[in-house]
Amino acid sequence: MSAVAYEVDGEVAVLTVNYPPVNALSAAVRTGLGEGIERALADDAVKALVILGGGKTFIAGADITEFGTDKSQVKPALKDLQKMLETSPKLTIAAIHGTALGGGLELALTCHARVAVASAKVGLPEVNLGILPGAGGTQRLPRLTGVDVAIDLITSGKHIPAAKARELGVVDAIVDDVRSGAVAFARESLASGKSFVAVIDRNEKINGIEPSVFAEARKTVGKKARGKIAPMVIIDCIEAACTLPAAEGLAFEAEKFQELYASDQRGALMHYFFAERQARKIPGISADVQPRKIASCAIIGAGTMGGGIAMCFANAGIPVTLLDLNQEALDRGIGVVRKNYGISVSRGSMSQDKMDKALSLITPTTSYDDLAQCDIVIEAALERMDVKKEIFARLDKLMKPGAILATNTSYLSIDEIASATSRPGDVVGCHFFSPANVMKLLENVRSAVTSPETIVTVMEMGKAIGKVPVLAGSTEGFIGNRMLQYYTGEAEFLLEQGATPEQIDRVATKFGMAMGPMSMRDLAGMDMAVVSRKGRAASIPAGERVSPIVERLVEAGRFGQKTNKGFYRYEGREKLSDPETMEIIEGVSKEFGITRREFTDEEVEARLFAPLVNEGAKEIEDGTAIRASDIDVAWVNGYGFPVHRGGPMYWGEKYGLDKIYQMALDAEKRNGPRWGPGKLLERLAKEGKGWKDA
Ligand code: 3HC
Repeated sequence: MSAVAYEVDGEVAVLTVNYPPVNALSAAVRTGLGEGIERALADDAVKALVILGGGKTFIAGADITEFGTDKSQVKPALKDLQKMLETSPKLTIAAIHGTALGGGLELALTCHARVAVASAKVGLPEVNLGILPGAGGTQRLPRLTGVDVAIDLITSGKHIPAAKARELGVVDAIVDDVRSGAVAFARESLASGKSFVAVIDRNEKINGIEPSVFAEARKTVGKKARGKIAPMVIIDCIEAACTLPAAEGLAFEAEKFQELYASDQRGALMHYFFAERQARKIPGISADVQPRKIASCAIIGAGTMGGGIAMCFANAGIPVTLLDLNQEALDRGIGVVRKNYGISVSRGSMSQDKMDKALSLITPTTSYDDLAQCDIVIEAALERMDVKKEIFARLDKLMKPGAILATNTSYLSIDEIASATSRPGDVVGCHFFSPANVMKLLENVRSAVTSPETIVTVMEMGKAIGKVPVLAGSTEGFIGNRMLQYYTGEAEFLLEQGATPEQIDRVATKFGMAMGPMSMRDLAGMDMAVVSRKGRAASIPAGERVSPIVERLVEAGRFGQKTNKGFYRYEGREKLSDPETMEIIEGVSKEFGITRREFTDEEVEARLFAPLVNEGAKEIEDGTAIRASDIDVAWVNGYGFPVHRGGPMYWGEKYGLDKIYQMALDAEKRNGPRWGPGKLLERLAKEGKGWKDA
């Protein structure tokens, strides 16, 4: 059966792409479209042709699974189809529902007109794959939207709703029903004799653009890009659209596409794309296991975490009951939620209506009884086992049968918490990251007895509330925090050995981290780090070194940003180097007889990230992480690891698992047994294999 159905409705040919899941422009689809377009052009009775997607969406782009394979070379190419549509003597119309993305939107931009249903979205998200819209997107979109909007849309990859697309001129009409609406639009256009100018020939919006527009864009986009190359190249292409004749602009774009296609960043970003989707697939759980319905949620604790989690559910339209036994704390919590929404409204990222709707979905309460009928309860109370167990024993008696009992703990054992209930299969960790309404990661944590149904439910729920869910096993610190201690720990060892806070932070941010480890400590507050390190002291084996630098800084009153001094000195928002910090660090080096030396930036980079890979490998080995790519997803979304590096495990494999193994052996000698390599890393390093052989 062809991937494209061909029907004639009066004088309109309708080509429907049927290629689940997202009607990507695979070889079969391109072949089907090519045949369909030729057939329509050859039929004298046909005066117009409409292209639409079957199932839930229009075309979501080129088929990414075909990249680099022979199939991607099968003719017709996307550009051949575009030429047929753009130069067609008969009217060509793209009829959009679901999403028209990447090559899908680029195909639509070569039709004479585009109609969309109100729920549709369009976008050019190629930047998220480390490439650019290589089928004319950077040349045609600015001709419709103007340069500023095109730069924003293509460098961010954001999807915009149909109404916005209509306002910007990307879509010509909004229709009620995608197929009949498009056919009616075609008939009306034919009847009125309306003529359409090909997008590539419309130059009004790209004429006379000052070079300063691009210079400015390079500055703004460059800051956000944090080392990603595609956004900057996209600006070059949009500038080319404004300065070169159309054919040359298209050729320039094609050349730049090939350059980006060959880049390491493209490899890393494509790895990440599939990793995120793979993370939702849990081996050993049959596809027949259905998630429970989550139509209401209860949250215990109206602190920063509880309030942030409440916002996630309310934003997704799910009613939330927010409990705090202390009325004052509850009022304060709701106040913070209101304030956060207010900030979004004042920044224009949320409408007042949406804010009112979200707030109306959050019901504060001081009574446990109000939680009983909720589909899930998420406990975000004090991080102490005795407190959690008491709450879960109470929830066990209170909650309706089938409710999910979740805890937001960041390191406590889910098995032990579940043991306080008579329904441990319903108990699971839902570890949100702060600020919970912003951070994308949801680390779901299973105990040994969490039921498959509970697991599937929280994974689905994560997606429904706009999070990126990853499943972890219940070892201390789960996937993310368990690794984090080795990253920050190694940063402190580097300080003892001769690196400076400035060098470490510079290397980390140049690598693409959202923030360097020393600045991160200053932001989080070093007094907090000291408390948490004391709490974990018992699990640190005798003979293992922990650098006392953080403790010494706290003793000197340097708590971080909150005391205006930590690793750095702060004057307002300005961060300054401080000789006193160096004195303290050098004092520690001396105390432990460590000879300070200079480090190259390359050395600092490898030393910072290798311990993450080593610990990640141990997590795969003991089942805390299902696969290496899940760890990548967790670190990208929860810890600011640069997505264009693919995640720590992807980076580690590219860097060389044999080198990581050797570094772990060295670290073991320096710092103690837990820094040494595990069996898995040893095997892969010695056999010259990668994570797929884990
Ligand atoms: N090619 C191949 N497979 C794709 C795909 C694509 N472009 N887009 C999505 N898929 C697959 C996913 O891998 C997933 O497969 P799986 O079920 O085996 O894991 C399946 O489709 C469903 O995807 P999601 O789980 O993401 O489903 P959602 O409904 O949440 O989202 C979507 C749908 C919004 C279309 C989202 O998948 C998406 O953003 N896709 C990527 C779109 C994109 O980047 N397009 C540009 C491609 S590059 C291009 O067009 C180059 C051109 O400029 C020349």
